[in-house]
Amino acid sequence: LGQQSLQGKSVIVTAGGTRERLDPVRFLTNDSSGKMGYAVAEAAQQAGATVTLITAPTRLTPPAGVTVVPIQSTSDLAQAVLDRFPQADALVMAAAVADFQPLDVADQKIKKSADNDGLILKLRKTPDILAEVAKIKQPHQVTVGFAAETQNLLANAQHKLHSKSLDLLAANDVSRTDIGFNSDDNQVTLIDANGEQTQTPKTSKIQIATLLVDQLAKILATK
Ligand code: PMT
Repeated sequence: LGQQSLQGKSVIVTAGGTRERLDPVRFLTNDSSGKMGYAVAEAAQQAGATVTLITAPTRLTPPAGVTVVPIQSTSDLAQAVLDRFPQADALVMAAAVADFQPLDVADQKIKKSADNDGLILKLRKTPDILAEVAKIKQPHQVTVGFAAETQNLLANAQHKLHSKSLDLLAANDVSRTDIGFNSDDNQVTLIDANGEQTQTPKTSKIQIATLLVDQLAKILATK
């Protein structure tokens, strides 16, 4: 596929680790740096797409020319994605989304007290954004997920592909420290809706993003 394979297409990319607030000064989050999602945004833009990057806080500079939508929590991310998805041709969910959020957010800083040696946090499940998106997805739209797994990578990934009605999924072994969260490189197995698998080499996230965007463009072209 050539350089401009996403010309005229609008692509939403999510990036970074969501933050779930405990109180005004604390939150739960994860190790996502945003590098993978920012690389996908850049690759999609280079392929000619109009790109919206919905991003949790990161240390990165967004690629010039993309529309940036900053978010913090999984609920923010869900709203930002669901608002924009109906107008988009494709969605790539590279964000590392919290699976649980505090049941209550304290208005004031949580205090230690002399009679309190521990603290029990009550958490509840966050909304599953890709599952919500699956409900409103139209036949011409393409959705791409990542599966961050520390065990049973391909089996868990296949399950996510089907349960979230995805067209493409990048299975990411995050038990390794040389790829996945935070590193500059990655290696993924791309699995499409027919179950066809392509293993990428271990290479830079921008190269991985280019391979993913190529596959995305091919799938969009068949719709
Ligand atoms: O940001 P980097 O440091 O570059 O690291 C990249 C990465 C490892 C974060 C990235 O490659 C990656 O794997 N992102 C997905 C992380 C994740 O949340 O995986 P998951 O297996 O928990 O979720 C599966 C898919 O569902 C993901 O596309 C996720 O965005 C989405 N999801 C998850 C939970 C939720 N409540 N709603 C969702 O839509």
